[in-house]
Amino acid sequence: TNPQAVAPLLLAWYDRHRRALPWRALPGTTADPYRVWLSEVMLQQTTVAAVKPRFEAWVARWPDFASLAAADDADVMATWAGLGYYARARNLVAAAKAVVADHGGAFPTDEATLRTLPGLGAYTAAAVAAIAFGRRAVVVDANVERVVARLFAIRDPLPGARVAIRAATDRVTPDARAGDFAQAMMDLGSGICTPRAPSCLLCPLNAECAGYRQGAPERLPAKATK
Ligand code: ADE
Repeated sequence: TNPQAVAPLLLAWYDRHRRALPWRALPGTTADPYRVWLSEVMLQQTTVAAVKPRFEAWVARWPDFASLAAADDADVMATWAGLGYYARARNLVAAAKAVVADHGGAFPTDEATLRTLPGLGAYTAAAVAAIAFGRRAVVVDANVERVVARLFAIRDPLPGARVAIRAATDRVTPDARAGDFAQAMMDLGSGICTPRAPSCLLCPLNAECAGYRQGAPERLPAKATK
C-alpha cells in the first residue's frame, strides 16, 4: 500500500459519488461551521438517515450559535428527544454559550482551541477543523478505523490497534482537501467498506488495499476477545 496513492484515488471517487447531505457544502464552497459541528455531534450515535430530519428541524429553530446560546433548556431537550445521550444536547448549548462569550461568536478554527469547548472531543474537534475550516486533521471514527485497518492489513485487535490505525490514517491524510478526504473515508466505510460484506470490486482503493490482496478483509479490524 502506497500511502501517497490513497488520497488522489479517494478524492476522485468522492467527486463522482459524494452524497448531498444538508450539512455538506456544495462542491467548491465552504461549509457553515455551525452546521458541520451540529451534524457531527448528532451523527456520533445516530445514523445519517435518522439525523437528516432532526438536523433540519434543529437548524430551522436555532440557525446559528447566537440563537442556540439563548435557547430555552426545556425546548432544547424536547427538540433533541429520541436522539439519546442527552449530555450531547446540553453540551451543544454550553458550547454555543462559550463561542458567544469567549470567542466573539465565531467558532475557533484550530483543533486545540476547539477541544476546549464542551462536548468537543478528539473526533469532533478534528472533524470540524477539517470539514469546516480545511485544516489538515486526522479524523478517525469507527468507519475510518475499518477502512484503514483493511487498507494496511493491520491485524492487531481493537482497541490496541488504534495507535497503529491513527498513525496510518495520518500517513494517508492529504494537506489539501482534508475535509473532503475525511468525509470520503466515512462514505467509503458506510457504503462500500462495510463490516460484513465489503464491496471490494467497487472500491476505488482496491488496487492499494493490503486486506483485499491478502483475502478476507471482512475479518478486519479484529476485536480483542474478552
Ligand atoms: N458520519 C459522521 N460524520 C459524517 C459526515 N460528515 N459525513 C458522512 N457520515 C458521517
